[in-house]
Amino acid sequence: MKVGIANDHSAVELKNSVLKHLQEKGYEVVNYGTDTTEAFDYPLAGSTISKAILNKEVDLGIAICGTGVGISIACNKHKGIRACCCSEATSARLTREHNNSNVICFGARIVSTELANDIVDAFLSTPFSNGERHNRRIQQLAEIEDRN
Ligand code: RB5
Repeated sequence: MKVGIANDHSAVELKNSVLKHLQEKGYEVVNYGTDTTEAFDYPLAGSTISKAILNKEVDLGIAICGTGVGISIACNKHKGIRACCCSEATSARLTREHNNSNVICFGARIVSTELANDIVDAFLSTPFSNGERHNRRIQQLAEIEDRN
């Protein structure tokens, strides 16, 4: 599986730690984020990772800003992106199972490096359940995108 990772200036350190963790686990990871602490706005980082997923450069994405909130809003502005902002592993697992989320977001000011690793592990190792009710609801999300 090919994974993309993006971050704003507030999350360089956590991005590097997650990147190393995933590489040690054998994932191919593409870094779309900034590597400096110079201002790099979260809408740009969220848009870059979202486009990489929609263009099929990577299968799933990880997006980190200060809180995880701003970058998740940016990702969810893209048609076909379902980004979940969370601070624990259960939501990361369930958003893959139920929402077929393609981006997981969290905050460098909110989660520790250990918790970030647990979140990405849960997200990347869980397949979409592909159940009828979940497909129906995801279809409804797509219809909302189309209508609005
Ligand atoms: C950047 O200072 C900060 O606003 C951003 O990382 C994020 O927390 C926004 O949601």
